[in-house]
Amino acid sequence: MSTDVSFDATNDAVVQCPYDSYRAMRDNAPVLELDGADLGRPGERVFAVSRHEDVKRILRDPNTFSSRFGSPAATPSPELLARLKEVSKDGWPNVSTMLTEDPPSHTRYRRLVSMAFTPKRVALLEPAIKEICEELVAGFARQPRVDFMEKFAVPLPVAAVATILEIPDTHREEFKQWADSSVAAIGRAISDDERVAAERDIVAQQKYFASELDLRRTEPRDDFLTDLINAELAPDDDVEGGPLNTAEMLSIIRQIQVAGSETTASLLADLMVQLAEHPDEWEKLKADPSRAGRVVEEGLRWASPNQGLFRIVKADTEIAGTPIPKGSTVWVMYGSADHDDRIFDDPEAFCPDRDSLNSHIAFGHGIHVCLGAALARLETVTALKTLAAHIDTISVVEPESLRYGSSFILRGLQALELELTYQ
Ligand code: HEM
Repeated sequence: MSTDVSFDATNDAVVQCPYDSYRAMRDNAPVLELDGADLGRPGERVFAVSRHEDVKRILRDPNTFSSRFGSPAATPSPELLARLKEVSKDGWPNVSTMLTEDPPSHTRYRRLVSMAFTPKRVALLEPAIKEICEELVAGFARQPRVDFMEKFAVPLPVAAVATILEIPDTHREEFKQWADSSVAAIGRAISDDERVAAERDIVAQQKYFASELDLRRTEPRDDFLTDLINAELAPDDDVEGGPLNTAEMLSIIRQIQVAGSETTASLLADLMVQLAEHPDEWEKLKADPSRAGRVVEEGLRWASPNQGLFRIVKADTEIAGTPIPKGSTVWVMYGSADHDDRIFDDPEAFCPDRDSLNSHIAFGHGIHVCLGAALARLETVTALKTLAAHIDTISVVEPESLRYGSSFILRGLQALELELTYQ
């Protein structure tokens, strides 16, 4: 195989359209060593893994491939670290929980959180999510041009997570600000001042939720936060550990908010672009809203809003014949895996009727598979059904100027202006 292949996650042309590079990697260098500094991991040996089969193998083997990859944000300089510490001393320690933990600690977190974030609790949200979607559409109804990110894609997931967390309307704006601050530095370069301002928001959010948790300790409710406080492993559970403490719960709340906001907004935006570019698909959806589930699955595969995450190699190993030394970082590229033509015919095409529809790994795979997948699906399916009930035609204003943000982890359009006609 030729090694004359490169992948520059900092090159804007690659960020805007990574698919040719992904294909070259899959075909010629399925395990490609990259410059760790470009990925915010200076001094580390980083190997990008691009084929579906290899990515899945890694995700199935947490004994060899650890999720303790630390923060996906760039490592701060000593000066910045001191400034961040000065702000965070007023808050709670940021405990590494589900996403960045391994068994048995991951198992304890996942089991406890799953007792609160149950399929039933998610299903109960359906009427509220329908109402949020209707309100958002009513907010722009009959306007010929709509800033879709601002008016729909961004507020919907924030409102959905705010509903689970029972954030009152008076705090929704603040909650959105906290959510933005939590994702600000993930896989993208921001200034030191922005990072310090984000830390301030994170502490403000911690204070808010710590007092909400205190309230529920004295006055339990039938809600997610009360269930999180009360979650306990059974005495005969094969994993040890007591209930979650406040710092752990605050970390988990933040993780749910981070993981659930930008990803879902990006999916919604990419779905609308695809539906605008495929009017036949939009017509089919309007005629038969039960197709929304299919369309969302293909949108997940096509867009993979989480393009990839890291794993740390715990013992010398090999992937697809390439030796990987202990201590290296592996970049599991969900975005490339979901465009692998070994699994998906004509992978760059948007095709909700494709056979391998459910083979995508946009929600990951294995023990870390997305905890919020059911919620993300509920939100996006409900959104499409609501939009299809009100909107007649969609087109993208100046499609040539669409731009994705610079993060190589969270891929999403920065803005999306749509031209709409209504039913
Ligand atoms: C389209 C939307 C979403 C996408 C594409 C997505 C993608 C992912 C992926 C790829 C992972 C696996 C990470 C890994 O392998 O290490 C993951 C994990 C996770 N997701 Fe999502 N996610 C979405 C929405 C949500 C929502 C709505 C929530 C919660 C409200 C959520 C909560 C989480 C959590 C807590 C984890 C960590 C699970 C663990 O480590 O055990 N996600 N997500």
